[in-house]
Amino acid sequence: MAKMWAGRTDGATEKIADDFNSSIHFDNRMYKEDITGSMVHGEMLAKQGIISHEDAEALRDGLAGILEDLETGKLAIDMECEDIHMFVEAVLTQRLGDVGKRLHTARSRNDQVALDIRMYLRGQIDEISQLVRTLLDTLTQKAETYKAAIMPGYTHLQRAQPITFGHHLMAYAMMLLRDLERLADCRKRMNQSPIGCCALAGTTYPIDREYEAKNLGFDGVCRNSLDGVSDRDFCVELLSALSVLMMHLSRFSEEVILWCSWEFQFVSLSDAYTTGSSIMPQKKNADMAELIRGKTGRVYGDLMALLTTLKGLPLAYNKDMQEDKESIFDGVDTVKMCLQVFTGMLATMTANPQNMKRAAQKGFINATDLADYLVKKGLPFRSAYQISGQLVALCIQENTVLDELPMEIYQKYCELFDTDLYEAIALETCVAKRTSQGGTSVASVEEQIQYVRSQI
Ligand code: ARG
Repeated sequence: MAKMWAGRTDGATEKIADDFNSSIHFDNRMYKEDITGSMVHGEMLAKQGIISHEDAEALRDGLAGILEDLETGKLAIDMECEDIHMFVEAVLTQRLGDVGKRLHTARSRNDQVALDIRMYLRGQIDEISQLVRTLLDTLTQKAETYKAAIMPGYTHLQRAQPITFGHHLMAYAMMLLRDLERLADCRKRMNQSPIGCCALAGTTYPIDREYEAKNLGFDGVCRNSLDGVSDRDFCVELLSALSVLMMHLSRFSEEVILWCSWEFQFVSLSDAYTTGSSIMPQKKNADMAELIRGKTGRVYGDLMALLTTLKGLPLAYNKDMQEDKESIFDGVDTVKMCLQVFTGMLATMTANPQNMKRAAQKGFINATDLADYLVKKGLPFRSAYQISGQLVALCIQENTVLDELPMEIYQKYCELFDTDLYEAIALETCVAKRTSQGGTSVASVEEQIQYVRSQI
């Protein structure tokens, strides 16, 4: 196909140079944004008297026809074109003749591509946010189901204090709520229109940038034309927000993998979200969770690739910036897939409260409550801590647990111990008494669930 920019050169480039230069095989996904942007651009040109109203009408109909033909499959995207912007303009000119050639007045591909990415990505943010909300909905339902299921809470992966499975799940809900906020915040800065910045310096035509911004759903316009065409901060911000989101899914996945190991047996995944081994007949692997953990590295890679591409670029547009798309598209595609798979896996996951409770019974997980018991009877915390530690050491030596140690032994260590102790260090009590805000008691977890629901 003849180069639209032939003129200064004869446009007769080597095939390998064309292939290397071309971005249509990945930017074609922005065809709708490109066409919508062009429709409003044509309208603006007519409103400002830059082209005639008849031409603007022809452009609008021509563009609408291309959009329809693309969506119905009547028109295929020609991968020989350099990029999606060139393709749309070429088809328009084929169909309309000279009128089609008027569209690119007071515009450059530099502001056009910046416009298209912003429009495309803000749609992606909306989709991703919706997927996060769906995951949050599933998560709060699970938390509700297991709000009283006692499990060991860990620090250093050592049993620390008893918590409920619902409480543990709600920790992830809080992370995901912050992810939603980060996405909304990123969308806000993204939603400024670059169209009208033109190649870099603005234009001599009497354009109306506010009109285009408003009609394309933007909150305002980029205030410096050089910045407007060379800014890709919004891509970096989105990939950062997506990296944090993936980091959360990855930590959660890691726990799911641990929990369904034979050592833990805290949860079991539905067969629909597991795989088997080709050689070991007993295996049921959490491949979905492992892949989500693995793909987190890939999204971090997308972020690093883009940051590295941008770091040495002088103003304004440079062709390096075409590399933004594969990173950001890979990031959004990966995250969308991971969110859907994770939600399905979580929705069909069942917990095994007996095993969780059994694990909580074995690790002196109520030692803090033992110390707190003495504190409530008047002993200073440090002294109580020491006595409790000695009692744990004794239990380990005698191969028993705090709940089964006879009162005579307790009283040898401190005479403040009394028979109400056993009730005080029962796992149920340890959980039920942690009513502090954000704590593990059922009432507190219910409050957390209500809060998250009110936010989605
Ligand atoms: N395909 C290009 C990109 O993705 C469009 C902008 C081209 N602009 C230019 N001056 N060559 O960045």
